[in-house]
Amino acid sequence: MKAIVITTPGGPEVLKLQEVEDPQIKDDEVLINVEATALNRADTLQRKGSYPPPKGASPHPGLECSGTVVSVGKHVSRWKVGDQVCALLSGGGYAEKVAVPAGQILPVPPGVSLKDAAAFPEVACTVWSTVFMTSHLSSGETFLVHGGSSGIGTFAIQIAKCRGVRVFATAGSDEKLAFCKKLGADVCINYKTEDFVARVKEETGGKGVNVILDCVGAPYFQQNLDSLDFDGRLFIIGTQGGAKTELNIGSLFARRLTVQAAGLRSRSLENKAEIVSEVEKYVWPAITAGEVKPVIHKYFPLSEAAEAHQLMESSQHIGKIMLVP
Ligand SMILES: NC(=O)c1ccc[n+]([C@@H]2O[C@H](COP(=O)([O-])OP(=O)(O)OC[C@H]3O[C@@H](n4cnc5c(N)ncnc54)[C@H](OP(=O)(O)O)[C@@H]3O)[C@@H](O)[C@H]2O)c1
Repeated sequence: MKAIVITTPGGPEVLKLQEVEDPQIKDDEVLINVEATALNRADTLQRKGSYPPPKGASPHPGLECSGTVVSVGKHVSRWKVGDQVCALLSGGGYAEKVAVPAGQILPVPPGVSLKDAAAFPEVACTVWSTVFMTSHLSSGETFLVHGGSSGIGTFAIQIAKCRGVRVFATAGSDEKLAFCKKLGADVCINYKTEDFVARVKEETGGKGVNVILDCVGAPYFQQNLDSLDFDGRLFIIGTQGGAKTELNIGSLFARRLTVQAAGLRSRSLENKAEIVSEVEKYVWPAITAGEVKPVIHKYFPLSEAAEAHQLMESSQHIGKIMLVP
């Protein structure tokens, strides 16, 4: 089959479409003929050599896909040949075929095309496992998401809104903020021209928000703590601005704050299956009802993965960037 190979660590130009061995499935896995895959920020780090695939994962990039089941392992009972599905992957999505543990597969939500369904697994599993399963964001609470126009942000705004949450979003341009507003964000903050802590305080009567989803890391750490209400929860999923900082433990004491961080890719198979199952139970109905829609910036042919990475690194996109084999 054809797949995108990271020929050597480096810039987007190191991504080459090459002939590689077909993946072999294990007894608890399914082989999917890939209809579409989507980019994630982590793919750009893997390409540069700073985010190696976990043990046993495909060496090729691609953390999610949609497609048709073409064969099933002997211990798989739920899925059969011909099923149209989407899946959370540990790698290998930038390819014509991929082998996936059966517990990481979801049906294509009714009303969503097979192609567009590839936009959901990574954002849905990341946001659901952090903001909802761990930080317990609930109806009537307030939520700040940084990078509101990102793949993660566009999904987080929609799912939080349809669960009765007041949503705050940051982004780096007025065009991106207008899009966040259209998705339902209540308070949109341009992080390049405004002080988000001051704005959060102003909009919450001085209290702060209940939950923050952060992808910036060190430079926002103290500001995030300063933006939380009593019993507030900060969940860090990215360190785009750096990972090392100082913490004054006193700022956690005063308002009983919780700080957590996690990655999805390195979780155990059991843990991923549990997240995928919760996503099907709680998120899929919102997608089926049309309350959460895929936000797709552009489709590229798989052979243009380098151009797609260039676009992601330019940060001009809103929502997901897709690849089609
Ligand atoms: N831990 C996990 O399991 C997990 C899983 C998926 C994603 N992530 C992380 O989540 C983030 C989003 O991922 P993605 O794939 O959706 O990427 P993406 O679409 O490329 O989004 C990156 C976003 O970061 C925003 N950003 C950068 N610097 C910022 C700052 N100083 N303040 C506010 N926003 C800032 C950008 O906003 P502007 O363009 O407006 O500057 C952009 O919206 C990435 O950091 C990624 O690594 C983590």
